[in-house]
Amino acid sequence: MVGLVRPAGVDDAAAIAGVHVATWRTTYGGLLPDDFLASLDAAGYEERWRRTLGERSDRVYVAEDRDGVVGFASGGRERAGETGYSGELYAIYVTREAQGRGHGRRLVQAVAGGLREMGLPDMIVWVLRDNTSARDFYEKLGGVLVRTQPITIGAALLQEVSYGWKSLDAIRY
Ligand SMILES: CC(C)(COP(=O)(O)OP(=O)(O)OC[C@H]1O[C@@H](n2cnc3c(N)ncnc32)[C@H](O)[C@@H]1OP(=O)(O)O)[C@@H](O)C(=O)NCCC(=O)NCCS
Repeated sequence: MVGLVRPAGVDDAAAIAGVHVATWRTTYGGLLPDDFLASLDAAGYEERWRRTLGERSDRVYVAEDRDGVVGFASGGRERAGETGYSGELYAIYVTREAQGRGHGRRLVQAVAGGLREMGLPDMIVWVLRDNTSARDFYEKLGGVLVRTQPITIGAALLQEVSYGWKSLDAIRY
């Protein structure tokens, strides 16, 4: 089945939170402390997603297949004041079982469409330096390395890197 990507509504909050917690655990095992990953609380994230979706300021999309929601992505105005970028891909997560089937590419396409609608012509994304498979994905899409900075997640001090597309037209699907 070819997956479908659609804008998310408040009713998707629980499914998004479920994907969020599950994919953080599969993606960040070994990168983030075990106790931090064990403590992630789907109910807490559901509440946060419900608020985010209700506010309607971020663009949020879900990817579905016959099993239901298997991925999500969000984006909007760049948050950190990075010179040269006004749009940002905030998050993109596809469950391990559903990876490699084009959901990620379709989700990026949807977020880029949302940024365009907001009048934002470019896109930056931050990713943990050691998350090599996500970095491969962004490089495949034509992202150019912008810079590295430290980030604290839970009790872990890590490095994150950013990839940028100076024009949304430069994203290589
Ligand atoms: C990164 C992620 C969003 C990509 O989504 P996906 O659905 O697996 O990717 P797609 O199937 O759309 O792949 C798009 C292209 O990128 C390539 N790609 C995807 N993952 C890749 C990887 N780990 N290494 C190399 N290339 C990769 C694919 O080969 C594909 O190109 P192809 O069709 O020519 O082969 C997804 O794997 C994911 O959620 N990973 C875990 C969470 C994560 O790290 N999120 C990012 C946090 S910043």
